[in-house]
Amino acid sequence: MIENLAKNLVNLKKEFAKIYDGKSQIQEIIPISDSESFPIEQQDLEFLHQFATKNPIYYNSYEKTVGDTPCIVYEGDINKYWLNSIQYGSSRAPFSPTWIMSAYVSVLFAKELGYREVIDIGSGDGRIAFCAKVLGLESYSIEIDNMLVDLQKLLISILDFHPYCSDSIVFDYSSLNLSHPAFFIGGLAQMGGTALASGVLEKIESISELKKKTGWVFAGTYSQKYHTDPKNEAGWGTLIEKNNLQSTQTISLPTVWTFREPDETPYIFAQVI
Ligand SMILES: C[S@@+](CC[C@H](N)C(=O)[O-])C[C@H]1O[C@@H](n2cnc3c(N)ncnc32)[C@H](O)[C@@H]1O
Repeated sequence: MIENLAKNLVNLKKEFAKIYDGKSQIQEIIPISDSESFPIEQQDLEFLHQFATKNPIYYNSYEKTVGDTPCIVYEGDINKYWLNSIQYGSSRAPFSPTWIMSAYVSVLFAKELGYREVIDIGSGDGRIAFCAKVLGLESYSIEIDNMLVDLQKLLISILDFHPYCSDSIVFDYSSLNLSHPAFFIGGLAQMGGTALASGVLEKIESISELKKKTGWVFAGTYSQKYHTDPKNEAGWGTLIEKNNLQSTQTISLPTVWTFREPDETPYIFAQVI
């Protein structure tokens, strides 16, 4: 069922990319109501719309039917946040968001796999942690950039997803008392994500027994523009092998950075072998 939801979202994005004639730097859509293609709790959809409406990244919104799905289009600009996010010596990836709907679908998948907490590493505006909270999981968002964390603090009035302004490589995860967490790593392997994931993996290994109970969600790419990994897995194969992990599932979902691309972003779910 979640795989179908992911496929329907990809089709919706492709349809939208064909007909979108606006000029905004970033744009995304969220269905207005639940439907056969998007069987999502109405209350959850309302939360996703609130997240976009309250989020200063977006400056315009309007209704548009895409295919046969009535949606709201959200148009925005992330330039100032992108620029701020690259100024840190220990930053491993610049800010660019996944789609809000993709955050929701990927967390839904983590929930289906039985994870109880979501840790959004390099969380940007916190949309993955927010969606985890919408879906009733405990969530924590770790972001190095203070401007983005200030933005997240505007959004926790909707649902508190616990933002922390910290370098995720030095953050003390034992303070969260995690039981069965999924870590979402916010950065392509080839764009600094490997360093980000390796640093967090090292921290988790130092907490007794936690690695065995932990899942990993890596955002990948098949784009030829990037150096490819000899072990594949959309750029994550070497890290997965080196850390004795095994990928269990991949779902492809739209992101801001693939809006004009034919391929979506593969999210690779992995865990200890
Ligand atoms: C590609 S964005 C991903 C945003 C979000 N996870 C999403 O999917 O929408 C990567 C984010 O990681 C943050 N970041 C980079 N290095 C970091 C680090 N060492 N610790 C915490 N955050 C970091 C950046 O500031 C940026 O906001």
